[in-house]
Formats: sequence, structure tokens, C-alpha cells
Amino acid sequence: MPASVAGPIRHTLIIGCGDTGVRVAARLVASAELVTGLVRSQASAARVRSIGARAIRRDLDQLGTEKLPDCDRLLYFAPPGRAGHADYRMGDVLARLPRVPTQLVYISTSGVYGDCQGDWVDETRPVDPQSERGQRRADAERQIADYAPHAVILRAPGIYGPNRLPVSRVLDREPILDDAEGGWSNRIHIDDLATIAYRAGTERWPHSIYNACDGLPTRLSTYYDALAELLGVEPVPRISWAEAESRFSAMRLSFLRESRRLSNRRLVDTGFESIFCDFREGLAASLKAESAD
Ligand SMILES: NC(=O)c1ccc[n+]([C@@H]2O[C@H](COP(=O)([O-])OP(=O)(O)OC[C@H]3O[C@@H](n4cnc5c(N)ncnc54)[C@H](OP(=O)(O)O)[C@@H]3O)[C@@H](O)[C@H]2O)c1
Repeated sequence: MPASVAGPIRHTLIIGCGDTGVRVAARLVASAELVTGLVRSQASAARVRSIGARAIRRDLDQLGTEKLPDCDRLLYFAPPGRAGHADYRMGDVLARLPRVPTQLVYISTSGVYGDCQGDWVDETRPVDPQSERGQRRADAERQIADYAPHAVILRAPGIYGPNRLPVSRVLDREPILDDAEGGWSNRIHIDDLATIAYRAGTERWPHSIYNACDGLPTRLSTYYDALAELLGVEPVPRISWAEAESRFSAMRLSFLRESRRLSNRRLVDTGFESIFCDFREGLAASLKAESAD
């Protein structure tokens, strides 16, 4: 088993304490740790406070010159801004920390690998982001690794979970790209991602980069068809790439241009046991949680 972190962790700062952040924060608070979650909106701040953590509200695009609170553990879960090739938010945050924290975790995306034409991809593969969104993430990874070589970077694929499913798309019978012209994709259930991030932040892991995925890449239709079956409706129609180009947003198309099968071998070697190694169980649990809300 990986060793625990040496030295006292008195304060954890979570930059971007959203869906993953509150799950991790709740576990830390349950162990009587002091946790501060930085968010932008009032509603997110209220959610952070409701689980017993402190909340501070800042806009990462307008941080000003004020220092951020000192922390022993930094969990950086906020996305880059929406334009450009660099993550300016990350640079601003790191410059405003009073000192380098003992423990750092950054949630990046598997988009840094770019299109891999369906290859199996492990963490030794060089990054090659073709989209601007992937380039911003690669820039964020570089920044945090330069700032703190002991930081752990988690490369997450599509995150799913309660209130994060394409239910309305499936019920409205919105088409998806035909598998014949589409690629492979990967997922991670939000609860599994939170467990991975919690463990990466509270243990010493031997590597600095991990694919944070469920290890079961599929074609897009496998995922959508499983959801349709659980909802008791017919599979959604398929369309060609040419039709997708005329119907889908540029962002959606940029995801569809990339095909990879992520390996989670390195993650499994840390002793990680996914609750939802099969996304069908994760989908069913997510729908159940939604209906209980
Ligand atoms: N969606 C996916 O499938 C996917 C896949 C791979 C990786 N990721 C990345 O994984 C990370 C964790 O995901 P998640 O689902 O937990 O994210 P999330 O629920 O969207 O939370 C993001 C947090 O960042 C905060 N934030 C965003 N912009 C901000 C700004 N300008 N100033 C201050 N705070 C800001 C949000 O605060 P407010 O709520 O107050 O706005 C929120 O607390 C994110 O970086 C996400 O982009 C996502």
C-alpha cells in the first residue's frame, strides 16, 4: 500500500470546490481536517459550507494582488479559462500562494493526449493536444509540475454521475455520431474520481501522472445505448460525420475528433478499486441517486 504523507497537514485549500471538490472536502472534514473551498458563485459557496468546510468566493479571472490562504495541501480542481493556449488562472493562483504546499493534486484531462487514433494510452505517451482546450490543460500541467515537482496530476476523461448524464438528449432522441466514423472514449464516475483525488492528496504515490479513468473504454454508442436501455427508451439515431458537422457545436465536434483507449494500470497499481469499474452500474446508480433527489 502507498505510504501516508509525512508531516502534519493542517489546512487543505481546494481551488474550484465543485462536484469533485465537495466530495473530497467532505471526506477530509469527516477526518476533522480544516478545509477551505474556493468557488465563484454564492450557491457553490453555500454547498461548501453545508459540508462543514470554509468557503471563499473569488473569480479566478480577477484575483487581484491579494494573497490566497496558506495551505499544506492544495487540490486544484478548477478549469482553465475558455480561450487561448495557456491557463492564466493557474499562474495567478500559484503566484498568490504564500508558499509551496506539502501536497498538491491537479485534475487535468485526458484531452492532453490529443487524438490517438484509438490506441491504448498510458501515462508514458507524450502529450500532443490538438485542441486549444487540450493545450490549456497541457500548459496547466507544465505550470504545476514546474512549481511543485511533487504534484500529482490526474488525467480524467468524461466525468459522469448524478445530474451529469445526457438524459434529456436520449429522451429527446438527439442523434449521436455513428460508430463507423467515431472513436473510442473513456469515463470516470464522479465518486470514483473523488476517491482517486482524495487518495492522491493523502498518500504518497510513486508517479506524478495518473490516468484517472475506469479502464473500460467503449464506443460512444455503447454508453448511449446503455443509458437508453436503463431509461426504457429506444436507442438514439446515428448520424454521419458530415451531418454531425452541421448539427453539433464546435466544442462537441472537438471531442468527437479524438479517439483513445485509456489504460488505468498505473492507478490500479496504487491499490485503487473502482466502485464503478463497469459504467453500466455507474449509470444505474446515478439515475437512482437522481430520482432520490
Ligand atoms: N466535465 C468533464 O467531463 C471533465 C472531464 C475531465 C476533467 N474535467 C475537469 O475536472 C475538474 C473537476 O471537475 P468537476 O466536475 O468537479 O468541476 P465542477 O463541478 O464544474 O467544479 C469546478 C469548480 O471551479 C469553480 N470555478 C470555475 N471557474 C471559476 C472562476 N473563474 N473563478 C472561481 N472559481 C471557478 C466553480 O465554481 P462555481 O461553481 O462557483 O462557478 C466550481 O466550484 C474541472 O477542472 C473540470 O474541468 C471535467
